Amino acid sequence: MRQRRTFPRLLGSLLLAAGLAGLGLTGATGATGAPRAEALRPLGAIVPAPASVTPGGAPYTLTRATAVRVDADGTGDTDGRATRDIGRYLADLLRPSTGYPLPVVDADEARGGILLRLSPGATALGEEGYELRSGRTGVTLTAYRPAGLFRAVQTLRQQLPAAVEKRTVQPGPWRIAGGTVTDTPRYAYRGAMLDVSRHFFTVDQVKRYIDQLALYKINKLHLHLSDDQGWRIAIDSWPRLATYGGSTQVGGGPGGFYTKDDYREIVRYAASRYQEVVPEIDLPGHTNAALASYAELNCDGVAPPLYTGTAVGFSSLCVPKEITYDFVDDVIRELAALTPGRYLHIGGDEAHSTSHADYVAFMDRVQPIVAKYGKTVIGWHQLTGARPAEGALAQYWGLDRSSAAEKEQVAAAARAGTGIILSPADRAYLDMKYTKDTELGLSWAGYVEAQRSYDWDPATLLPGLPATAVAGVEAPLWTETISQSVHIDRMAFPRLPGIAELGWSPATTHDWATYRLRLAQQGPRLTALGIDYYRSPQVPWAAE
Ligand code: ACM
Repeated sequence: MRQRRTFPRLLGSLLLAAGLAGLGLTGATGATGAPRAEALRPLGAIVPAPASVTPGGAPYTLTRATAVRVDADGTGDTDGRATRDIGRYLADLLRPSTGYPLPVVDADEARGGILLRLSPGATALGEEGYELRSGRTGVTLTAYRPAGLFRAVQTLRQQLPAAVEKRTVQPGPWRIAGGTVTDTPRYAYRGAMLDVSRHFFTVDQVKRYIDQLALYKINKLHLHLSDDQGWRIAIDSWPRLATYGGSTQVGGGPGGFYTKDDYREIVRYAASRYQEVVPEIDLPGHTNAALASYAELNCDGVAPPLYTGTAVGFSSLCVPKEITYDFVDDVIRELAALTPGRYLHIGGDEAHSTSHADYVAFMDRVQPIVAKYGKTVIGWHQLTGARPAEGALAQYWGLDRSSAAEKEQVAAAARAGTGIILSPADRAYLDMKYTKDTELGLSWAGYVEAQRSYDWDPATLLPGLPATAVAGVEAPLWTETISQSVHIDRMAFPRLPGIAELGWSPATTHDWATYRLRLAQQGPRLTALGIDYYRSPQVPWAAE
């Protein structure tokens, strides 16, 4: 993929030259008091930054006559269903605010407008890449695979004024700058994790987050489904895990769990946004909810009480007992059957109540169970202190101040073939407070402001880590203090878009000074979406 090294500077100067106020991006109303239309957004002034942008030519303007045209004679979508569904998704996004009918039609039934096409020849675009061409007569989105078209739609959406996200008719005009964007992701794994164990989140709350993640081209939704405080997924062969182990949460509320149909609905909805669900059952620690549900899982045969506090490291499955592996086999079998995706996360963090020898023995037995059910292991990076299975990924959640030995353990595993997902807690954890004054969140990894969360490079964070070992990045959101969607909004935004950009955009585009200007333009869009984001003083937010 061609990468324009001058891109960030060019973009920054475009924005600066126009002047944020002059763009109509800071003034909510004009001299007459009428709403001022947002000026044309420069091509590529979006998050995440595209790999290649060639601005030029006239913009395209959506009108009442615009059609969404789908052409799906392409690879992997022979009946055209995926392309048509993406066309419908786009039309559904744009209709309420534009008030236009935006019919979704076969490509040959109309001309111009917005064309979505899969091209069997566009192999260079890969699984998720796309090309967007915009000019006076229309916009064409081209991809090799449906996921690429879906990512292209997010780019198209962000090129339009923020008001396009509103659900009532807005004045427009609805213009998309002219030129060509050619874009592929830096990393294949670009995740967000939601801890539904410390506090339970309903299917609708999870769907809301999925929709937010889609805007920033996230492609993995990691669900932390079990912990000391709650077991959140129905397992038919061990029903009390959910009905009893899921009956409470941090602070003692009623908790909850997903039935298998609930969970299938989350997986289906995520897939419709081209996100793969990565389920996590945290083992062998973080298991009090399971141990409380079944006395026989405890070494002493006595079930502990349910737990609603926030301590960590006090629980462990009984490694020497055979029933432990019957339990793990049943859980992984049922969970794998619910999982069309490739990965199954087995936790492995903070096993402070498991001896090292037991931890290694446990992981030696459990990883083959994951493989037996056709899935690839992901574990928190403590897995690198055992023997990671072939093909496993380790998720690094250390800090700048973590010991050199701990970092080297992870880097050595990477050199031996283990892929690494980077989630440094002092940068990527969305539950860390922004500052000492942040109401929600924790601070054990320090305070993480917008710049700190964005301003690092996944390829060089860990000394001695081969760049080729980096599978990608993930932004985890732990929920000890988070119990509502408004809390998710406040902690994820604006940091999540920055992590998404680290996962998607070429390293050559990395530049805080220009990123913060692009991020500033996301503010009105987030507001239009009903997201009450943290107004970081590090970002010159556009007025709404
Ligand atoms: C973790 O934060 N314990 C993975």
